[in-house]
Amino acid sequence: MTETTSSSSTLPSSSATASFAVSSDADAPLRVAVIIGSNREGRFGPIVAEWLLSRVRERSDLSLDVVDLAEVDLPTSLSFDPSAAVAAELAKVTPKLAAADAFIVLTPEYNHSYPASLKSVVDWHKAEWEAKPVAFVSYGGLSGGLRAVEHLRPVFAELHTVTIRDTVSFHNAGALFDDAGNHRDPAGADAAAKVMLDQLAWWGWALRGAKAVRPYGS
Ligand SMILES: Cc1cc2nc3c(=O)[nH]c(=O)nc-3n(C[C@H](O)[C@H](O)[C@H](O)COP(=O)(O)O)c2cc1C
Repeated sequence: MTETTSSSSTLPSSSATASFAVSSDADAPLRVAVIIGSNREGRFGPIVAEWLLSRVRERSDLSLDVVDLAEVDLPTSLSFDPSAAVAAELAKVTPKLAAADAFIVLTPEYNHSYPASLKSVVDWHKAEWEAKPVAFVSYGGLSGGLRAVEHLRPVFAELHTVTIRDTVSFHNAGALFDDAGNHRDPAGADAAAKVMLDQLAWWGWALRGAKAVRPYGS
């Protein structure tokens, strides 16, 4: 398995290890990092995240890591020479992104787009995204976060990713889950998740195989 590293032209990355079990086995489960995008106080995100994580955990072809942006304090001012404090924050996230074969971005919709926390983690990294597939799960009001997803696609295109066509979106998300955090009528969302995860896995395996034969960009 080829792991991406930051080149000298990118912002610095931590050398700390990711929580994935690193394997050289080409048949090892695809390593999927779920990025929980909202870091808002009182956020709804963890409810949707739990639903999503349980869908990923059901799959024997996928292994899971979680990047919760509420647990990372990345400044909006980028730096090639971050302070020790910023480097410590990067160390919480960069190794997980580097080790991932594929990503699922969980995004709410804020003002017809995605939250600043997501743009920040995207911009602090570069090679970590490259030649990997990115899927989206969104939630919000009437639009279900679809506008946030469509704004994320061109951002991830710039980073040499493949974005997955099918998404899962939760419209008026608050009303869809009960007080215990369970989806009241999960069949549709579960079916959409299967389609999305199947597409993510296809691209993940395809790109893992291709990179084993020839490094991306060479
Ligand atoms: C600053 C802000 C802007 C929002 N703008 C939109 C919007 O444009 N469209 C929409 O459907 N919902 C919008 N919402 C509703 C959120 O998508 C919804 O509250 C969601 O649960 C927020 O995710 P979070 O609680 O995990 O942060 C907005 C919420 C906030 C806090």
